[in-house]
Amino acid sequence: MSRSTLTPDPRPLTPDLSVTIGSLRLKNPVLVASGTFGYGTEYAGLVDLSRLGGIVTKTLTPEAWPGNDPPRAAETAAGMLNSIGLQNVGVEGFIRDKLPYLQTVDTAVIVNIGGGPIEEFVAVAERLADCDGIDGIEVNMSCPNVAGGMDFSTDPRRAAQLITRLRKVVDLPLIAKLTPNVTDIGEIARSVEEAGADAVSAINTLRGMAIDVKTRRPKLGGITGGLSGPAIKPVAVAAVWSIARRVTIPIIGIGGIMSTEDALEFLIAGAAAIQVGTANFVNPKTGTDIVAGLDTYCAQEGITSIRSLIGSARVP
Ligand SMILES: Cc1cc2nc3c(=O)[nH]c(=O)nc-3n(C[C@H](O)[C@H](O)[C@H](O)COP(=O)(O)O)c2cc1C
Repeated sequence: MSRSTLTPDPRPLTPDLSVTIGSLRLKNPVLVASGTFGYGTEYAGLVDLSRLGGIVTKTLTPEAWPGNDPPRAAETAAGMLNSIGLQNVGVEGFIRDKLPYLQTVDTAVIVNIGGGPIEEFVAVAERLADCDGIDGIEVNMSCPNVAGGMDFSTDPRRAAQLITRLRKVVDLPLIAKLTPNVTDIGEIARSVEEAGADAVSAINTLRGMAIDVKTRRPKLGGITGGLSGPAIKPVAVAAVWSIARRVTIPIIGIGGIMSTEDALEFLIAGAAAIQVGTANFVNPKTGTDIVAGLDTYCAQEGITSIRSLIGSARVP
């Protein structure tokens, strides 16, 4: 009998929470979602950003953009509607005013980009490709609110066209962010994988609308908007599950994640990482709380690497 059998190792298990998204290694699978965490700087005094796996910044367009008319947000049962409309500082404003701080934070920085025509996406991506401190680019493929904008994420051919063009100018990990407002999200995921995306993230918000019955006016200035929060979680888990059946590239799961258990559901359904969105408005520490929760879960379950959970759903 070996000595280790006689005297159990008193050290507690330290689970390995690291995951990889293409060539990008994340210290843990928890990111914060685009549009719900500003450019990171706004949360620096509230959250220990270095404990996050990564930060995904607000969608950047070539020029600064004022966004849609107010009201831009409305509460719904178990969620919220927003029609912010890609308000952002523009790519030059980001590089000048936001990136220098992000370069000092020990976490992955993924910059989300958008635009109207393909050329605008390409211009933003080319500009970012020259900068230090950017670890990946996430492509917001559904920007119908931007002038001249096209929804690239509802047609597999257009989705592939956009990713093919970006692939030519970007060596960084390229993540295609998909909309759930389609019949078959797996088909879109497949087309962007073939076009050269390193990963997909799913899902963006679901199209929704709310009406004030006294005034009979829409509750959002943009009339319709995007639904997010716990209400969309089962839709998002199903999307991840469907995509995992169609692609081999990593999936980043997003949609209604409020707790460690929610995050685990996405990993088990097939996500290699997750993003926390609306929950940041309730508690900005949700992401770092989930990191701690995943660590505890893995230690308690005797899981040495969180990667072993990815796609581990026991489906009959
Ligand atoms: C107020 C708000 C602003 C958002 N802005 C963006 C954005 O600029 N770009 C983007 O790709 N997604 C944006 N999203 C979508 C989120 O990143 C996320 O995909 C979605 O909200 C679902 O996740 P959640 O339910 O955890 O919020 C935004 C969501 C909200 C609530």
